[in-house]
Amino acid sequence: MRPVIIAANWKMNSTPAAAGPLAREIASRTREPTVVRVVCPPFVCLAAVRDAVAGEGIQIGAQDVHQEPAGAFTGWTSAAMLAGLATWVIVGHSERRRDAHETDAVIGRKVARALEGGLRPILCVGEQLADREAGRALQVVADQVRGALGGLDPERLVEGRLVVAYEPVWAIGTGRNAVGSDAAEMAEAIRRIVADLGWTGPEAAALPVLYGGSVTSANIGEFLAEPTIDGALVGGASLKPDEMAGIVGRAAMTARARVDAGAAVDRRELKIR
Ligand code: PGA
Repeated sequence: MRPVIIAANWKMNSTPAAAGPLAREIASRTREPTVVRVVCPPFVCLAAVRDAVAGEGIQIGAQDVHQEPAGAFTGWTSAAMLAGLATWVIVGHSERRRDAHETDAVIGRKVARALEGGLRPILCVGEQLADREAGRALQVVADQVRGALGGLDPERLVEGRLVVAYEPVWAIGTGRNAVGSDAAEMAEAIRRIVADLGWTGPEAAALPVLYGGSVTSANIGEFLAEPTIDGALVGGASLKPDEMAGIVGRAAMTARARVDAGAAVDRRELKIR
């Protein structure tokens, strides 16, 4: 049984002074114990957000991690540096593929460092508009998943509870959305690819796949209506408490329906003590 996860990617927004109050407001407006809530602020805001949401059941993620464990890499952040600040990390976001020229091979090494550092990776994949228009979307995403994960031990990825976010590049920050059924098809394709990479059938079936790309409280329902989609990675709307309240509220409906359908959610996901 897969959890329902709403992850907020704040990108390069907020400040250490503003992040705590914002995170606290989001926390207080999204108290849905059935939904896994993750907030990913900029590195310099991690401590403020951690302190602000202590005891709220919100989990904290970083937006990136370096592919090397340590060394002469000015300005970068290693997995070890994130200990005590974050328990999740986004890797392979399309903005980093675009602006930092990250390749699938580098992204795979980031996933490895994340796992070593006890960080749960959210691996982002997604095609460009030209790929979708040319009918290549599935192929591109398959290549990204294989390129990042192909060299990694399936057992480690399963143990590290990898999450994949399908984010079509043309839908990020544009107000354009994928069609729910296209995203759902991609989620299933991603599970087939990890099965090809050596995951067992049940392991592949348990891989959480999120949708990302201009998700709002108005359109989240279209994605969560798809049983193969397990939540969202939310950018712009994640800075707005009203939007987050709507998104997490809708996610809770799906989470409750899944529980009512008889499936047991892994209690570790929800940090139920
Ligand atoms: P968006 O960003 O919701 O602003 O489109 C999503 C993302 O980049 O993760």
